Amino acid sequence: MTFKSTPKVELHTHLEGCAPPAFIKGLAAEKKIDISKIFTADGGYAFRNFDHFLQVYEAACTTLQSPDDFRRLVSAVLDETAAHGVVYMETFVSPDFCGGGDLDAWHEYLAAMKEAADEAEAKLGITLRGIVTGIRHFGPDACKPAARCAAETMGEFIVGYGMAGGEMVGRPADYAYSFDMAREAGLPLTCHAGEWGGASMVAETLTHLKVSRIGHGIGAASDPALVEKLAEEEIVLEVCPGSNVNLEAVSGWAAHPIVKLRDAGVPVTVSTDDPPFFHTTMTEEYDMLHKTFGWAEDDFAAINATALKAAFCDDTTREKIA
Ligand code: ADE
Ligand code: ZN
Repeated sequence: MTFKSTPKVELHTHLEGCAPPAFIKGLAAEKKIDISKIFTADGGYAFRNFDHFLQVYEAACTTLQSPDDFRRLVSAVLDETAAHGVVYMETFVSPDFCGGGDLDAWHEYLAAMKEAADEAEAKLGITLRGIVTGIRHFGPDACKPAARCAAETMGEFIVGYGMAGGEMVGRPADYAYSFDMAREAGLPLTCHAGEWGGASMVAETLTHLKVSRIGHGIGAASDPALVEKLAEEEIVLEVCPGSNVNLEAVSGWAAHPIVKLRDAGVPVTVSTDDPPFFHTTMTEEYDMLHKTFGWAEDDFAAINATALKAAFCDDTTREKIA
Protein backbone atom coordinates (compact mmCIF):
# COMPACT_ATOMS: atom_id res chain seq x y z
CA MET A 1 0.00 0.00 0.00
CA THR A 2 1.43 3.36 -0.96
CA PHE A 3 0.05 6.84 -0.60
CA LYS A 4 2.43 8.38 -3.15
CA SER A 5 -0.31 9.98 -5.22
CA THR A 6 -2.38 11.27 -2.25
CA PRO A 7 -2.27 15.09 -2.33
CA LYS A 8 -0.25 16.38 0.63
CA VAL A 9 0.32 19.62 2.51
CA GLU A 10 3.69 19.86 4.25
CA LEU A 11 4.45 22.61 6.77
CA HIS A 12 7.84 21.68 8.22
CA THR A 13 10.89 21.34 5.99
CA HIS A 14 14.30 22.99 6.05
CA LEU A 15 15.34 24.11 2.58
CA GLU A 16 19.00 23.11 2.87
CA GLY A 17 17.94 19.95 4.69
CA CYS A 18 15.97 18.91 1.61
CA ALA A 19 19.08 19.06 -0.61
CA PRO A 20 19.75 15.70 -2.25
CA PRO A 21 23.28 14.55 -1.32
CA ALA A 22 24.19 14.31 -5.03
CA PHE A 23 23.22 17.97 -5.45
CA ILE A 24 25.50 19.06 -2.58
CA LYS A 25 28.29 16.80 -3.88
CA GLY A 26 27.97 18.45 -7.28
CA LEU A 27 28.25 21.95 -5.80
CA ALA A 28 31.23 20.85 -3.68
CA ALA A 29 33.00 19.54 -6.79
CA GLU A 30 32.28 22.76 -8.72
CA LYS A 31 33.72 24.85 -5.90
CA LYS A 32 36.52 22.43 -4.99
CA ILE A 33 35.32 22.11 -1.38
CA ASP A 34 36.28 18.87 0.33
CA ILE A 35 33.32 17.72 2.39
CA SER A 36 33.70 14.04 1.53
CA LYS A 37 33.57 13.11 5.23
CA ILE A 38 29.90 14.13 5.51
CA PHE A 39 28.83 11.37 3.11
CA THR A 40 28.46 7.64 3.68
CA ALA A 41 29.98 5.15 1.23
CA ASP A 42 26.58 4.68 -0.41
CA GLY A 43 26.09 8.41 -0.93
CA GLY A 44 23.85 9.44 2.00
CA TYR A 45 24.61 11.98 4.70
CA ALA A 46 26.70 10.58 7.58
CA PHE A 47 25.97 11.65 11.16
CA ARG A 48 26.01 10.00 14.58
CA ASN A 49 23.47 11.98 16.57
CA PHE A 50 21.54 15.28 16.58
CA ASP A 51 24.51 17.54 17.41
CA HIS A 52 26.59 15.86 14.73
CA PHE A 53 23.63 16.14 12.31
CA LEU A 54 23.68 19.93 12.85
CA GLN A 55 27.43 19.99 12.08
CA VAL A 56 27.01 17.90 8.93
CA TYR A 57 24.08 20.12 7.90
CA GLU A 58 26.21 23.24 8.26
CA ALA A 59 29.10 21.62 6.36
CA ALA A 60 26.70 20.88 3.49
CA CYS A 61 25.57 24.53 3.60
CA THR A 62 29.12 25.75 2.94
CA THR A 63 28.61 24.67 -0.69
CA LEU A 64 25.60 26.99 -1.06
CA GLN A 65 27.30 30.30 -1.72
CA SER A 66 25.22 32.38 -4.11
CA PRO A 67 21.63 33.26 -5.02
CA ASP A 68 22.01 31.06 -8.08
CA ASP A 69 22.96 28.07 -5.89
CA PHE A 70 19.72 28.61 -3.98
CA ARG A 71 17.76 28.95 -7.22
CA ARG A 72 19.10 25.55 -8.31
CA LEU A 73 18.45 24.12 -4.85
CA VAL A 74 14.79 25.17 -4.87
CA SER A 75 14.33 23.61 -8.33
CA ALA A 76 15.93 20.32 -7.28
CA VAL A 77 13.92 20.17 -4.05
CA LEU A 78 10.56 20.94 -5.65
CA ASP A 79 11.10 18.38 -8.43
CA GLU A 80 11.58 15.74 -5.75
CA THR A 81 8.83 16.94 -3.39
CA ALA A 82 6.19 17.27 -6.09
CA ALA A 83 6.86 13.66 -7.11
CA HIS A 84 5.46 12.63 -3.71
CA GLY A 85 2.13 14.37 -4.18
CA VAL A 86 2.97 17.50 -2.18
CA VAL A 87 0.86 20.38 -3.46
CA TYR A 88 1.82 22.97 -0.85
CA MET A 89 5.07 23.15 1.09
CA GLU A 90 6.49 25.55 3.64
CA THR A 91 10.23 25.62 4.11
CA PHE A 92 12.56 27.22 6.63
CA VAL A 93 15.05 29.57 5.05
CA SER A 94 17.87 31.14 7.01
CA PRO A 95 19.50 34.50 6.27
CA ASP A 96 22.54 33.05 8.10
CA PHE A 97 23.14 30.82 5.07
CA CYS A 98 22.11 33.52 2.58
CA GLY A 99 24.42 36.49 3.00
CA GLY A 100 24.81 36.28 6.79
CA GLY A 101 21.89 38.52 7.72
CA ASP A 102 22.75 41.35 5.31
CA LEU A 103 19.45 42.72 4.05
CA ASP A 104 20.57 43.61 0.51
CA ALA A 105 22.05 40.14 0.03
CA TRP A 106 18.93 38.56 1.51
CA HIS A 107 16.77 40.32 -1.09
CA GLU A 108 18.91 38.80 -3.87
CA TYR A 109 18.77 35.30 -2.41
CA LEU A 110 15.02 35.56 -1.97
CA ALA A 111 14.47 36.74 -5.53
CA ALA A 112 16.38 33.70 -6.80
CA MET A 113 14.39 31.29 -4.60
CA LYS A 114 11.13 32.86 -5.66
CA GLU A 115 12.06 32.62 -9.34
CA ALA A 116 12.61 28.87 -8.99
CA ALA A 117 9.45 28.46 -6.89
CA ASP A 118 7.32 30.28 -9.47
CA GLU A 119 8.78 28.15 -12.25
CA ALA A 120 8.05 24.92 -10.34
CA GLU A 121 4.52 26.08 -9.55
CA ALA A 122 3.82 26.63 -13.26
CA LYS A 123 5.49 23.35 -14.27
CA LEU A 124 4.52 20.98 -11.45
CA GLY A 125 1.61 22.59 -9.60
CA ILE A 126 3.45 22.74 -6.27
CA THR A 127 3.32 25.96 -4.22
CA LEU A 128 6.27 26.87 -1.98
CA ARG A 129 6.35 29.48 0.78
CA GLY A 130 9.27 30.42 3.03
CA ILE A 131 9.49 30.86 6.81
CA VAL A 132 12.53 32.92 7.83
CA THR A 133 14.36 31.05 10.53
CA GLY A 134 16.74 32.05 13.27
CA ILE A 135 19.24 29.39 14.29
CA ARG A 136 19.05 28.88 18.02
CA HIS A 137 22.57 27.64 18.65
CA PHE A 138 23.98 30.74 16.93
CA GLY A 139 22.55 32.64 19.92
CA PRO A 140 19.84 35.26 20.59
CA ASP A 141 21.82 38.13 19.03
CA ALA A 142 22.31 36.25 15.76
CA CYS A 143 18.55 35.70 15.53
CA LYS A 144 17.87 39.47 15.48
CA PRO A 145 19.13 40.13 11.92
CA ALA A 146 17.17 37.06 10.80
CA ALA A 147 13.99 38.51 12.31
CA ARG A 148 14.75 41.85 10.67
CA CYS A 149 15.15 40.12 7.29
CA ALA A 150 11.78 38.45 7.91
CA ALA A 151 10.08 41.72 8.85
CA GLU A 152 11.50 43.51 5.81
CA THR A 153 10.57 40.85 3.27
CA MET A 154 7.24 39.62 4.53
CA GLY A 155 4.87 39.23 1.63
CA GLU A 156 4.13 36.93 -1.23
CA PHE A 157 6.90 34.38 -0.59
CA ILE A 158 7.98 34.96 3.02
CA VAL A 159 4.97 34.16 5.18
CA GLY A 160 6.31 33.52 8.67
CA TYR A 161 9.14 33.57 11.18
CA GLY A 162 10.51 30.70 13.25
CA MET A 163 13.51 29.21 14.99
CA ALA A 164 15.34 25.92 14.47
CA GLY A 165 18.71 24.53 15.56
CA GLY A 166 19.98 23.23 18.89
CA GLU A 167 16.93 23.28 21.14
CA MET A 168 18.90 22.92 24.37
CA VAL A 169 20.79 26.19 23.80
CA GLY A 170 19.31 28.90 26.05
CA ARG A 171 15.69 29.14 27.09
CA PRO A 172 12.80 30.41 24.93
CA ALA A 173 12.64 33.76 26.78
CA ASP A 174 16.20 34.52 25.57
CA TYR A 175 14.83 34.70 22.02
CA ALA A 176 11.76 36.84 22.72
CA TYR A 177 13.21 39.99 21.11
CA SER A 178 13.34 38.38 17.63
CA PHE A 179 9.90 36.83 17.94
CA ASP A 180 8.47 40.15 19.16
CA MET A 181 10.02 41.93 16.16
CA ALA A 182 8.55 39.43 13.71
CA ARG A 183 5.13 39.45 15.42
CA GLU A 184 4.99 43.24 15.40
CA ALA A 185 5.69 43.14 11.65
CA GLY A 186 2.60 40.94 11.29
CA LEU A 187 4.25 37.57 10.74
CA PRO A 188 2.76 34.35 12.09
CA LEU A 189 5.20 32.34 14.22
CA THR A 190 6.44 28.82 14.76
CA CYS A 191 9.33 27.45 16.81
CA HIS A 192 11.06 24.09 17.20
CA ALA A 193 10.33 22.86 20.72
CA GLY A 194 9.75 19.53 22.34
CA GLU A 195 11.88 17.68 19.81
CA TRP A 196 14.49 17.32 22.58
CA GLY A 197 13.43 19.72 25.32
CA GLY A 198 10.37 18.00 26.75
CA ALA A 199 7.09 19.49 27.90
CA SER A 200 8.61 22.43 29.80
CA MET A 201 10.33 23.69 26.64
CA VAL A 202 7.01 23.59 24.77
CA ALA A 203 5.23 25.39 27.61
CA GLU A 204 7.90 28.11 27.84
CA THR A 205 7.88 28.54 24.08
CA LEU A 206 4.15 29.22 24.15
CA THR A 207 4.46 31.62 27.08
CA HIS A 208 7.44 33.65 25.90
CA LEU A 209 7.40 33.41 22.12
CA LYS A 210 3.61 33.29 21.60
CA VAL A 211 3.71 31.03 18.57
CA SER A 212 0.67 29.51 16.89
CA ARG A 213 2.57 26.41 15.71
CA ILE A 214 5.26 24.27 17.28
CA GLY A 215 7.91 22.37 15.31
CA HIS A 216 7.79 18.76 16.54
CA GLY A 217 6.24 19.32 20.01
CA ILE A 218 6.26 15.61 20.78
CA GLY A 219 7.74 16.20 24.26
CA ALA A 220 4.39 17.73 25.23
CA ALA A 221 2.81 14.29 25.21
CA SER A 222 4.20 13.51 28.69
CA ASP A 223 2.23 16.37 30.31
CA PRO A 224 -1.57 15.88 30.24
CA ALA A 225 -2.30 19.50 31.26
CA LEU A 226 -0.12 20.79 28.44
CA VAL A 227 -1.74 18.41 25.95
CA GLU A 228 -5.13 19.79 27.02
CA LYS A 229 -3.87 23.36 26.55
CA LEU A 230 -2.55 22.56 23.05
CA ALA A 231 -5.93 21.09 22.14
CA GLU A 232 -7.95 23.94 23.66
CA GLU A 233 -5.83 26.70 22.14
CA GLU A 234 -5.53 24.84 18.82
CA ILE A 235 -1.74 25.03 18.80
CA VAL A 236 -0.73 23.13 15.69
CA LEU A 237 2.11 20.62 15.92
CA GLU A 238 4.36 20.14 12.89
CA VAL A 239 5.10 16.49 13.62
CA CYS A 240 7.95 14.80 11.74
CA PRO A 241 7.79 11.13 12.75
CA GLY A 242 10.48 9.79 10.39
CA SER A 243 12.91 12.47 11.58
CA ASN A 244 12.17 11.63 15.22
CA VAL A 245 12.74 7.92 14.58
CA ASN A 246 15.95 8.49 12.61
CA LEU A 247 17.43 10.87 15.21
CA GLU A 248 16.22 8.60 18.02
CA ALA A 249 14.07 11.26 19.67
CA VAL A 250 11.66 8.31 19.98
CA SER A 251 12.58 4.63 20.19
CA GLY A 252 10.72 3.63 17.04
CA TRP A 253 7.59 4.18 14.95
CA ALA A 254 5.32 2.24 17.31
CA ALA A 255 6.43 4.43 20.25
CA HIS A 256 5.70 7.70 18.45
CA PRO A 257 3.16 9.86 20.35
CA ILE A 258 1.41 11.25 17.24
CA VAL A 259 -1.70 9.11 17.78
CA LYS A 260 -1.89 9.95 21.49
CA LEU A 261 -1.67 13.67 20.67
CA ARG A 262 -4.20 13.47 17.86
CA ASP A 263 -6.65 11.46 19.93
CA ALA A 264 -6.40 14.07 22.70
CA GLY A 265 -7.61 16.67 20.22
CA VAL A 266 -4.27 18.34 19.45
CA PRO A 267 -4.14 19.56 15.83
CA VAL A 268 -1.32 17.45 14.36
CA THR A 269 0.20 17.66 10.90
CA VAL A 270 2.87 15.50 9.23
CA SER A 271 6.10 16.62 7.57
CA THR A 272 9.53 15.28 6.62
CA ASP A 273 11.88 17.89 8.23
CA ASP A 274 15.07 17.06 6.23
CA PRO A 275 14.04 14.15 4.01
CA PRO A 276 17.34 12.94 2.47
CA PHE A 277 19.13 13.19 5.82
CA PHE A 278 16.53 10.96 7.44
CA HIS A 279 15.93 8.63 4.47
CA THR A 280 12.34 9.70 4.24
CA THR A 281 9.81 11.28 1.88
CA MET A 282 6.19 12.34 2.38
CA THR A 283 5.19 9.06 0.74
CA GLU A 284 7.30 7.14 3.26
CA GLU A 285 5.79 9.09 6.18
CA TYR A 286 2.24 8.27 5.05
CA ASP A 287 3.09 4.66 4.26
CA MET A 288 4.66 4.18 7.70
CA LEU A 289 1.68 5.84 9.45
CA HIS A 290 -0.53 3.40 7.57
CA LYS A 291 1.65 0.42 8.40
CA THR A 292 2.19 1.32 12.07
CA PHE A 293 -1.13 2.84 13.09
CA GLY A 294 -3.51 1.85 10.28
CA TRP A 295 -3.99 5.43 9.09
CA ALA A 296 -5.90 5.57 5.82
CA GLU A 297 -7.21 8.12 3.31
CA ASP A 298 -9.67 9.74 5.77
CA ASP A 299 -6.93 10.20 8.41
CA PHE A 300 -4.66 11.79 5.81
CA ALA A 301 -7.48 14.00 4.53
CA ALA A 302 -8.00 15.22 8.11
CA ILE A 303 -4.33 16.06 8.73
CA ASN A 304 -4.10 17.79 5.37
CA ALA A 305 -7.15 19.91 6.21
CA THR A 306 -5.49 20.80 9.55
CA ALA A 307 -2.25 21.66 7.75
CA LEU A 308 -3.93 23.80 5.13
CA LYS A 309 -5.86 25.71 7.79
CA ALA A 310 -2.61 26.27 9.74
CA ALA A 311 -0.54 27.22 6.67
CA PHE A 312 0.93 30.72 6.91
CA CYS A 313 0.02 31.65 3.31
CA ASP A 314 -2.74 34.13 2.47
CA ASP A 315 -6.33 32.99 2.04
CA THR A 316 -6.27 33.35 -1.75
CA THR A 317 -3.40 30.85 -1.95
CA ARG A 318 -5.13 28.59 0.59
CA GLU A 319 -8.35 28.55 -1.44
CA LYS A 320 -6.43 27.78 -4.64
CA ILE A 321 -4.88 24.71 -3.02
CA ALA A 322 -8.01 23.39 -1.29
N1 ADE B 1 17.56 22.09 11.48
C1 ADE B 1 17.36 21.20 10.52
N2 ADE B 1 16.68 20.14 10.99
C2 ADE B 1 16.44 20.38 12.30
C3 ADE B 1 15.78 19.68 13.33
N3 ADE B 1 15.21 18.49 13.13
N4 ADE B 1 15.75 20.23 14.54
C4 ADE B 1 16.31 21.42 14.76
N5 ADE B 1 16.94 22.12 13.84
C5 ADE B 1 17.01 21.61 12.60
ZN1 ZN C 1 12.85 20.94 11.77
